[in-house]
Amino acid sequence: MSDHLIVFDTTLRDGEQSPGASMTREEKIRIAKILERMRVDIIEAGFPAASPGDFEAVRAVAETITDSTVCALARAVGSDVDRAGEAIKPAVSGRVHTFIATSPIHMRDKLRMQPDEVVEHAIKAIKRARQYSDDVEFSPEDAGRSETDFLCRVLEAAIDAGARTVNIPDTVGYNLPEEFAALIVELMERIPNSDKAVFSVHCHDDLGLAVANSLAAVRCGARQVECTINGLGERAGNASLEEIVMAVRTRQDMFSCDTRIETKYIVPASRLVSNITGFPVQPNKAIVGANAFAHEAGIHQDGVLKSRETYEIMRAEDVGWAASRIVLGKHSGRNAFRSRLAELGIQFSTEEKLNSAFARFKDLADKKHEIFDEDLQALVTEQGLEHANEHLRLVSLKVCSQTGETPNAAVVLSVNGEEKRAEASGSGPVDAVYKAIDSVVGSQSELQLYSVSAITSGTDAQGEVTVRLERAGRIVNGHGADTDIVIASAKAYVNALNKLVSPSQRTHPQSGQAI
Ligand code: KIV
Ligand code: ZN
Repeated sequence: MSDHLIVFDTTLRDGEQSPGASMTREEKIRIAKILERMRVDIIEAGFPAASPGDFEAVRAVAETITDSTVCALARAVGSDVDRAGEAIKPAVSGRVHTFIATSPIHMRDKLRMQPDEVVEHAIKAIKRARQYSDDVEFSPEDAGRSETDFLCRVLEAAIDAGARTVNIPDTVGYNLPEEFAALIVELMERIPNSDKAVFSVHCHDDLGLAVANSLAAVRCGARQVECTINGLGERAGNASLEEIVMAVRTRQDMFSCDTRIETKYIVPASRLVSNITGFPVQPNKAIVGANAFAHEAGIHQDGVLKSRETYEIMRAEDVGWAASRIVLGKHSGRNAFRSRLAELGIQFSTEEKLNSAFARFKDLADKKHEIFDEDLQALVTEQGLEHANEHLRLVSLKVCSQTGETPNAAVVLSVNGEEKRAEASGSGPVDAVYKAIDSVVGSQSELQLYSVSAITSGTDAQGEVTVRLERAGRIVNGHGADTDIVIASAKAYVNALNKLVSPSQRTHPQSGQAI
């Protein structure tokens, strides 16, 4: 059995399926580049049949990434497989991942297919995918609730048809570690051609067991894990890449394999994904949470000062928790700015975009003298958002907040190029700003989440605001950053409203649509 554990990152596909986490082509490229630097083996870049935009994004990732395999997802249907195959064509190494549900409930109520038809669709899709790449992965969706006899049948046929990787998804996060590990062992033992394929696992976190289930399977012979940065993903999310990688690396006494991951990129990747998707990382999240290496209790601090191993099982710097470095300042020139961004994996497609980012940087450096990598990341994300959404723009904002008085806000917005003004008061300055904006836009949306955090330390740090809006079942996230948190709040709200008005015609890969 191989001692290499393949890391298959699906932040750009399953992660993107989190409500409100959709990413633009440029954002996907930025995340893909850091995953590549981290030495992720396979990057699942998206579901090309979902929309022309998704197709373009996967293709752009395939054109850019050279050191990781780029994978595209397809339902087990000819047209999906063709879109996926076309999208990964430019890749140095490309994979098509096709799937079909195999649990009784999915076959009966979602697909409305007999088991024989499911096997037939799987075989056809795999053979078709092999016309685009020798590297084909097959997943029996909802394997965790499928009958083992049927799984053996469909997986044997899939391997015969040319699948080199067979992935066992616990799609709804239902399994327990012992149960899931036993399933992997039984499948590997009973399927006659199981030695011709790599066994992979893909676990969701509905019961908080995605990482435990994945690790239990790895200990029993699975040699690919599917995971996402920060555990992003449908509902409660997917198994988190950082937790799996660090568990395997830290407990080498318990695993007969390891990944090739450069762990020092874990924290920067976590921040980038959080910054782009607007999903904050909880402070007590393992490995990447702000408190993951903070020692509060006096007794712990005493122990760590005497010998760090008393309470630390990993080194903060090994996962990228370096103290933030001041990288640029007010006097830095365009070349220094360009080269630091290049080191962060950010390149602009045109000189005009670089110039506009540089102008923003100068504005920021006037307000905040020390500019950190995190500030640069936020600046680039904001610029990308504005380019993507031209409908609504914040022109100016004036807020009056004083003890004993009701806060008041006056905003000027550009709506499709036309300037509109509004004033409102509210229980606090942010409430007043949101009411003023809403009196212009009339969004009829519900604010589900508002969160603010500091990008770096110090009172001159930029505040990063995330909002989540819901309207008629559609959820969008917006975010904004500024040294003034009320302005950051306004930017985040405008960003979310822009997403709400832009039409979304993406097909969800796992929806109940007939295939
Ligand atoms: O959770 C799941 O079953 C999936 C499949 C498409 C692999 O994401
Ligand atoms: Zn999934």
